[in-house]
Amino acid sequence: MEIDAELAVVLSDSEERTEEVGEALGLVLGAGDVVLLVGDLGAGKTALSRGIARGLGITERVVSPTFVIVRQYRGRVPLAHADLYRLAEGDAFAIDMLELGEKGSVTLIEWGDRSAGIFAELDPLTVVFEADGGHHRRISFFASSRWAGRLARAGLADRASRAGT
Ligand SMILES: Nc1ncnc2c1ncn2[C@@H]1O[C@H](COP(=O)(O)OP(=O)(O)OP(=O)(O)O)[C@@H](O)[C@H]1O
Ligand SMILES: [Mg+2]
Repeated sequence: MEIDAELAVVLSDSEERTEEVGEALGLVLGAGDVVLLVGDLGAGKTALSRGIARGLGITERVVSPTFVIVRQYRGRVPLAHADLYRLAEGDAFAIDMLELGEKGSVTLIEWGDRSAGIFAELDPLTVVFEADGGHHRRISFFASSRWAGRLARAGLADRASRAGT
């Protein structure tokens, strides 16, 4: 099995910038794609998700799914936006998320590292957020080489080199 590599890094200095990064990513996502969002409370997972939704052509306002576990939206491709934070054991739920992927949704999963094993077979893109206590975020993208072309098309690989990483 191929081990995921860090394919791109983006530095963001505002919530709006993080949303723009998400929008660029949303433009290259398609049915069946699974994106795991990993980072502490307030890291920017939902902000990136709002941008991704925009890139998918979703006009409805995207809000945190923390309390409902999963929200679904219609766009160019349907979006399933989930949050595993409140689940003690995410695995049973994760199996339902696999079905959503099979039904042709893009699936975004906040706190996705809690059930990473379940999603591994779906060749996920893992987005890791590191915050500095202020408004800076280091956003890194880990995936198999299958994702490299799309991240480049989203302009993310370029941004990584511009950021000097
Ligand atoms: N560069 C940045 N990118 C994203 N959010 C930022 C940035 N700088 C500051 N913020 C603030 O950080 C918070 C991010 O909140 P968000 O809901 O996206 O986090 P989250 O990772 O989804 O948290 P949770 O685990 O609670 O769901 C917002 O209050 C936002 O204004
Ligand atoms: Mg959130």
